[in-house]
Amino acid sequence: MADLMNKIVSLSKRRGFVFPSSEIYGGIGGFWDFGPLGTELKNNIKSWWWKTMVLDRDDVYGLDSTIIHNPQVWKASGHTVSFTDPLRECKSCHQRFRLDHLKSDKCPECGGELAEVKQFNLMFETYVGAAKETANKAYLRPETCQGIFINFANVVDTVQPKIPFGIAQIGKGFRNEVTFGNFIFRDREFEMMELEYFVKPGEDEKWFDYWLKQRKKWFVDLGIDSKKLRYFEHPKKALAHYSKRTVDIEYKFPFGWGELEGIANRTDFDLKNHAKLCGKDLKYQDDKGKKFYPFVVEPSLGVERTVLVLLLDAYREEKDKEGVRVILSLDPRLSPYKVAVFPLLANKPKLVKQARQVYELLKPHFVVAWDDRGNIGKRYYSQDEIGTFLGCTIDFQTLEERTVTLRNRETTKQIRVKISDLKKTIQKVLEGEEFLKFGKLVK
Ligand code: GAP
Repeated sequence: MADLMNKIVSLSKRRGFVFPSSEIYGGIGGFWDFGPLGTELKNNIKSWWWKTMVLDRDDVYGLDSTIIHNPQVWKASGHTVSFTDPLRECKSCHQRFRLDHLKSDKCPECGGELAEVKQFNLMFETYVGAAKETANKAYLRPETCQGIFINFANVVDTVQPKIPFGIAQIGKGFRNEVTFGNFIFRDREFEMMELEYFVKPGEDEKWFDYWLKQRKKWFVDLGIDSKKLRYFEHPKKALAHYSKRTVDIEYKFPFGWGELEGIANRTDFDLKNHAKLCGKDLKYQDDKGKKFYPFVVEPSLGVERTVLVLLLDAYREEKDKEGVRVILSLDPRLSPYKVAVFPLLANKPKLVKQARQVYELLKPHFVVAWDDRGNIGKRYYSQDEIGTFLGCTIDFQTLEERTVTLRNRETTKQIRVKISDLKKTIQKVLEGEEFLKFGKLVK
């Protein structure tokens, strides 16, 4: 299993999914850059989340707030005081360790004596304006949801939503994690996809169960192995300062079960605290004129963690005559490239010209790759490894009949399709209509 992680790290680097950030200077711990393919994969994940969580629904509205807020926000949210990890520092080598990662009173690095436990705040500090003084101190947001709470009244005033309703946001979050690692699992800069779903008090538990089911189904619908997903109920005494109940959707990573998404019942904690500190009325008024603080159910998911789970879950190897075929069985909706176009032989100008025409025909409608290097077998392998769902080859028959072959990554099965039907056929395959007939994900 640990071997799988190494394979994913190496594939990510080799094919341009993920690079260590600032690599030419030796990197910087907990920061990662996304290459050409990783960027497409990330964008597809975010678009899919936005489509299913916002656009396909009648009750969720989008928001895009700033990364830096007035520091009062973090006072009201409790982060200035409570967003901490208990740490112990080694008196000899001065390394700090999370309390929950320590097995004894000795430093795991040098065996030195450890100092008493201290709370370490995970928020990155910065200064707004020219003067670096306390009055100008601000923080990079550690979660995107506070942007939603501070805009609650703005959104309610502009769209006048009927409760229950949600406000969603995708954006960067920053945490000065003491222990980062397991590739992109725990980062210091990452993206979050958060929904704050506002409900009537008393209906929060029902909606909590609703989102718990919805969110697990979301992963299963994307082809994630359901046997590798489970719920983890946070024990009451370990709940975050704002939470009445939190359940994680966990994934079985090569290093063990770990949090993929958190679903929290934040009650009316945030709105009430902001109202108290800013002195404004942030209550919701229903159609009967009754005013109250809604309760909030929050599904919160990291984009990088989703990328990692998708890569781990999609990776498979198949032995064949040529050796080992590596396949990323990504759902075609998330694949960086949907289809790759190849001329059968790169040294036949007629084939190349016709293939280029097919490429131009598809390009406005799909994310298409062009590949004319090496032999056709190698090109298929190369595309399988990055999850391209279809291979479209232009051969001598194309020149005579105006048909091409379409090859399915999952089964390597091929069908012949008229060029005039190509766009429609690919669309159907990607939308899933033909997908099952043509070869579903093999897992
Ligand atoms: N607003 C709620 C909140 O921030 P969280 O459980 O701390 O909750 C939500 O974070 C999700 O963000 C996690 O389930 C995980 O997917 C992702 N996440 C959290 N910390 C992360 C980190 N350091 N690196 C990458 N992803 C992280």
